[in-house]
Amino acid sequence: MNTCKCSKAESDRERIETLSAQPEGKGLVTIEEEPIIGETPQAILKSWLTPNPLFYIRNHYTIPEGVSDWELTLDGNVEDALSIALQDFHSFPIQTLPITLECAGNNRSDLEPTVPGNPFQNGAVSTAIWAGVPLRHLLERAGVKEGSVEVLFEGFDSGEPAPGESHQPYLRSLPIDVAMHPDTLLAYEMNGEPLSREHGYPVRLVVPGWYGMASVKWLKRITVLQENFVGFFQTDRYIIESDDGETVPVAQMHVKSLISWPAEHMHLPAKPHMINGMAWSGFAHIAKVEVSDDGGKTWQSADLVGPRYRYSWQQWNFAWTPKSSGKYTLVARATDEDGNEQPLETRWNSLGYIINGVRPVCVEVE
Ligand code: MTE
Repeated sequence: MNTCKCSKAESDRERIETLSAQPEGKGLVTIEEEPIIGETPQAILKSWLTPNPLFYIRNHYTIPEGVSDWELTLDGNVEDALSIALQDFHSFPIQTLPITLECAGNNRSDLEPTVPGNPFQNGAVSTAIWAGVPLRHLLERAGVKEGSVEVLFEGFDSGEPAPGESHQPYLRSLPIDVAMHPDTLLAYEMNGEPLSREHGYPVRLVVPGWYGMASVKWLKRITVLQENFVGFFQTDRYIIESDDGETVPVAQMHVKSLISWPAEHMHLPAKPHMINGMAWSGFAHIAKVEVSDDGGKTWQSADLVGPRYRYSWQQWNFAWTPKSSGKYTLVARATDEDGNEQPLETRWNSLGYIINGVRPVCVEVE
């Protein structure tokens, strides 16, 4: 299990206090300015939904300029290619779903030895109510032909994804059954507002239950394929080495929990406290969350509270009365209804994905 990183935790606490002291008390924790990458300051959030300005942002390239006369092309192995304007979206059936997105590299900074990549702490995960058109509706309109295996999504953004790589757009594909799932959305609203530029205006894909890389922003083109797509963001990145040396694509979010309060390294008065946090899994509802105050030696059940939806995280509370003053190592671990248990140890991998091992929080009771 990871140990508490108290020096790092101290800087987290200072960072959170600085954020709380800002005039509006909010702001993303910036990981990179250009392209903009920022994580949600989980510890100052009180809500189940992440307000839009605090929803984490992960971009590989500069945000594309606003596109006038935007039209989405749907082509490839279909009966009739389509060209769809933004106003057309409002005449299609609308589906509204609360969905948690987590970046595959969330918690990368927990890995030891360290790996290259954005050093996310626990803030590259957020929840919004997304509204849009089921992708299936448009695929059915276009008429997907026999022999289709994947659907490819192209964003308007482009650049060199890594030194020495050619200039290319952000491209990702989905298996045809996931693309045809009625909950896979072409979203144009986030928490009741039109998508912001940062989050993919005018229309983005949202793939419920999958790590965020699948949810392609600033959609330009959708192409139905008769073969599996090979590309930088599909087969060079967002892959993980399995124990037998094979590479496996990163897909659904693995079961995980976070402690929102208390924040790491807090000093707490010797009285009862409500520990709280979130838990999620891309495979199934959360079945239980357990909490330990002794670094994982003993566990007790937390209460699952608040809204319960298939694709969004689950809030939990744990009423904790510290036995005496002193240092405590608080740990939470989640299990989903498919029986997937959050591991005590993250499986280290060189690109730093799927980091779902428990993350202890050190506190001191005075
Ligand atoms: N789509 C495009 N076009 N370009 C990108 O760089 N980043 C992906 C995905 N979609 C990306 C993209 C990744 S890695 C993540 S985690 C999510 O968008 C983040 O979505 P958000 O910035 O709205 O939180």
